[in-house]
Amino acid sequence: MKPKLRIFDDLENISKHAANIFSKQAARSIVERGQFLVALNGGGTPTRLFQLLAADFHDKVEWAKVHVFWGDERCVPPDDSGSSYGQARELLLSHVSVPESNIHRIKGELPPVEAAKEYALLLKEFASPPPDWLRFDLIYLGMGEDGHTASLFPGSPVHVMEAVLPVTAHYQDRPANRVTLTQLVFNSAHMVIFMAAGEKKASTLAEVLSDRYNPELYPAQRIDPKDGDLIWLVDKDAAGKLPKKITRKYCEG
Ligand code: 6PG
Repeated sequence: MKPKLRIFDDLENISKHAANIFSKQAARSIVERGQFLVALNGGGTPTRLFQLLAADFHDKVEWAKVHVFWGDERCVPPDDSGSSYGQARELLLSHVSVPESNIHRIKGELPPVEAAKEYALLLKEFASPPPDWLRFDLIYLGMGEDGHTASLFPGSPVHVMEAVLPVTAHYQDRPANRVTLTQLVFNSAHMVIFMAAGEKKASTLAEVLSDRYNPELYPAQRIDPKDGDLIWLVDKDAAGKLPKKITRKYCEG
């Protein structure tokens, strides 16, 4: 599926757009399927999105029908500052009326292998097989400066059979043990939104969106929903090294 690229002035505008997509996609999914299955990401990029959803959309989304999951998690307890679940709870989930039973976190306090197994079982509960995992209505992803996404890091296997994997990866000062969904799950989603901001990501973004396909080195290239939308929301700094032919090819309007 050809990605769509939207370039914004800054992260604030990316986040506003991403929040509007959340609201629209939630409404559509609830009408069509009776619920909205969304996977959140961690890291710095989505924090403003979470705040905006809490402030401006707490009464505009049918939160009782929203089920929240994560694309990956760091293996730390939920109240640790490194926990992606903890971050989303603080900034978003504690401010909206999503039922506690609809919050499906990855148990970061467990050893990674165990946490991955439990999460895979949870995904199966929401799946109507085949396949063995649920089809998300919306997934948010970020991209590291090295091209990783979720916890799919450069050099990790490209051909996987599992929906969920335990991972050990050293990236910046973040916890090394993690659990991640794989591209099998990401690529079966109805919609995947990537958000990337800042000039430190510009060279990598230019590689990821180029015609040079190297998914081993740039895991973000593994994301290619078979029957869904793939939308990149980036700021002008992150887009700074994109050749014109790429922006012409992927930018809408
Ligand atoms: C995590 C994410 C990871 C993140 C990227 C970008 O760390 O929890 O799973 O994939 O999205 O590392 O992080 P920033 O948004 O902080 O640049």
